[in-house]
Amino acid sequence: MGTLRPMAFSIFRKQIFSPTTFLWEVEAPDMAAAAHPGQFVMLRLHEGGERIPLTVADFDRDRGTITMVVKVVGKTTEEMATYLEGDTFQDFIGPLGAPTHIAQKGHVVFVGGGLGVAPIYPVLRAFKKMGNRTTTIVGFRNEQEIFWKDRFEEFSDNLIVMTDDGSVGKKGTTADALKDVLETGVNIDEVFTVGPLGMMEVIAELTRSKKIPTFASMNSIMVDGIGMCGSCRVTVDGNVLFACVDGPDMDAHKVDFKEMKIRQKRFRNEEGVLLQKYHTECRAQTKGVSA
Ligand SMILES: Cc1cc2nc3c(=O)[nH]c(=O)nc-3n(C[C@H](O)[C@H](O)[C@H](O)COP(=O)(O)OP(=O)(O)OC[C@H]3O[C@@H](n4cnc5c(N)ncnc54)[C@H](O)[C@@H]3O)c2cc1C
Ligand code: FES
Repeated sequence: MGTLRPMAFSIFRKQIFSPTTFLWEVEAPDMAAAAHPGQFVMLRLHEGGERIPLTVADFDRDRGTITMVVKVVGKTTEEMATYLEGDTFQDFIGPLGAPTHIAQKGHVVFVGGGLGVAPIYPVLRAFKKMGNRTTTIVGFRNEQEIFWKDRFEEFSDNLIVMTDDGSVGKKGTTADALKDVLETGVNIDEVFTVGPLGMMEVIAELTRSKKIPTFASMNSIMVDGIGMCGSCRVTVDGNVLFACVDGPDMDAHKVDFKEMKIRQKRFRNEEGVLLQKYHTECRAQTKGVSA
């Protein structure tokens, strides 16, 4: 009788965008065949590692690959940054979550900031291919952090790049840019936003009074990613929903952002301890600085 070997997934391509942001394109033909915009995957590097959710930033059915853009924020993402092309990791589950509802709406505005810039891309592409007019607002800290400008340009009728320091595009936030677009009086049929909770909350407030349907991708803390653990619960219009199965997209005008912000911080101490432990005990044994 044969022995059961754990499966390994291989990094087909790695691209570094900035000291804290990088891309992994992973060989996963079955997942690529099944993926749709708005879905996510759960990844674990090795036995004993934490399982983390990452949005499908792109999928290529011909190459059989799934692409993710990752920002280093803690232990697992820092460890991921040390992996090189050709390296393998242990678990890759997905696609998970409900795909974004893509339809002919008219004029759709996309707002992505921070970790949310990459996940906007497949959704934007699908809306554009459906024949919608598209305005895309993406926010970065500075010129060094910018990636995929050409990709966003390809599918945006109007691309607005915002940077905190004004080194590229306009100086200011994505909310400043949306305010400007709203002030032009242009008709907007739907807004789709991905990014930090505070940013998505502000975007939702800007569109509420104009009654523009607005959807936010809720990146709540996930443990199993399949609706069993309750970790990712979000209160929407007084009802408890689970971002991993009912979302990640939710009606941004009905999300209880205040509760979400509190829930998002609940493991902060443990996360700090784990990162410290990784720095002192494990880093010396891993592959060193990535490039
Ligand atoms: C549906 C979904 C899609 C996501 N897509 C992306 C993406 O495309 N690119 C990307 O860089 N990040 C994405 N994230 C966030 C990513 O999962 C976290 O940054 C990652 O889990 C952090 O792990 P860590 O060990 O490096 O840091 P930690 O020290 O564990 O955490 C740092 C911070 O990340 C957040 N976080 C931690 N664990 C989780 C978790 N299990 N689920 C969600 N958030 C968590 C918390 O706010 C925490 O304070 C996504 C999250 C969700 C829920
Ligand atoms: S992550 Fe467990 S219910 Fe959503």
